[in-house]
Amino acid sequence: MTDKIKVLIVDDIKETRENICCLIGFSSEIMVVGEAETAEDAIAKAKSLNPDVVLMDVNMPGMDGISAAEVLATEAPGCATLIMSVQGEQEYLRRAMVAGVKDYLVKPFTGDELLQALKRVYENQIIRSKVIPLKAKEDEPGKVITVFSTKGGVGKTTLAVNLAVALANRTGERVGIVDADLQFGDIALALNLMPLTTVADLVRDIDNLDKTLLESYLTAYNDNIRLLAAPVRPEQAETVEAAHLAKVLNIMRMTCKYIIVDTPPSFNEVVLSVLDASDVVLVVAALDLPTIKNVKLCLEVMGSLNYSTEKLQLVLNKASSEGGIDVPEAEESLRQSFIAALPNDGKVVATSVNRGVPFVISNPEAQVSLRVVNLARTIAADDWQSREEPRGVVGKLRRLWG
Ligand SMILES: Nc1ncnc2c1ncn2[C@@H]1O[C@H](COP(=O)(O)OP(=O)(O)OP(=O)(O)O)[C@@H](O)[C@H]1O
Ligand SMILES: [Mg+2]
Repeated sequence: MTDKIKVLIVDDIKETRENICCLIGFSSEIMVVGEAETAEDAIAKAKSLNPDVVLMDVNMPGMDGISAAEVLATEAPGCATLIMSVQGEQEYLRRAMVAGVKDYLVKPFTGDELLQALKRVYENQIIRSKVIPLKAKEDEPGKVITVFSTKGGVGKTTLAVNLAVALANRTGERVGIVDADLQFGDIALALNLMPLTTVADLVRDIDNLDKTLLESYLTAYNDNIRLLAAPVRPEQAETVEAAHLAKVLNIMRMTCKYIIVDTPPSFNEVVLSVLDASDVVLVVAALDLPTIKNVKLCLEVMGSLNYSTEKLQLVLNKASSEGGIDVPEAEESLRQSFIAALPNDGKVVATSVNRGVPFVISNPEAQVSLRVVNLARTIAADDWQSREEPRGVVGKLRRLWG
């Protein structure tokens, strides 16, 4: 019984508290350990009852839910706060995230939505509370692998996220992800993370930045994956300069074996500094004429920057022959072969994006996942662990990898 998720319900309306108690009563994994009518009472009870999750209404007389979340973040750091609000309080919710709230529920919600959110917040809290010691890797700096394309929507973010997870899971090494799509980066969304700090906060500390300080700006996805998230708002991107990201990557090389960088679909100062600092640039293409034309130009520009041919690798995404251009034609036009080809799988990919679970985790047997794992294996040949594959995949992998 003691391993149930313990919840403290905070709402000034008695009927709401009763309804929530009733919904939680249907779960065998969650239990209510207390109720509070005000934020002040909630803070006192959080300290004495030690709940795993404080489920709190945002609007209460006296101290509101956001201020209470701020206090809880420092005075009861062991419990995660899940905020309840009504529609139209989006700006309020953004402030809540900054205040340390881990997730939110928009009223009215179903019992299922409530239970799922409680479990999600609890599991994320467990992951975050695990402290991973920094690895000293000065003697063996990590590799920077940048996912780039001058064409938007080709799947850079999708590839970056799944590649990072595949590398971390299969090598057991520490992997960093840097979201260098500074205006519209959505890696955090793809991983269902709510970062409390982003690269925009980090630049204020850039002069003092070292391994330990950098660590405090990263968001943990699991034991060995850390994200440096993109700014919350596009206008904050202006504060991040090329030299800042170059410094971040240099420091990250000391603490992560692999660093995956996601980029916007264009060249700019920041992107160029990231490309310069990269060991490998995965240029993403697709089988349609505008993308091929665009990627060709992209490769030409990078050629003029004197990047080596080993550094520039082509990845084909959404591969499907329906558009009339086939792989040999594309390779001939680009004068380079693809290092990997990911199939077009709208169902698996869209579901994974919408749920915030990378498909290499949610659908490990799908072809698109196998191809990403294969690419990760090519990149991390030295660290690859020949772990037993999940059941049913062995044959497929053998066929794929020869
Ligand atoms: N292999 C695939 N099969 C089907 N759909 C895919 C595949 N890869 C990506 N997508 C879909 O394509 C869309 C664009 O993907 P993604 O956001 O990764 O592209 P991007 O290159 O990062 O875009 P942007 O340039 O806007 O940053 C998403 O809706 C994603 O779900
Ligand atoms: Mg993207």
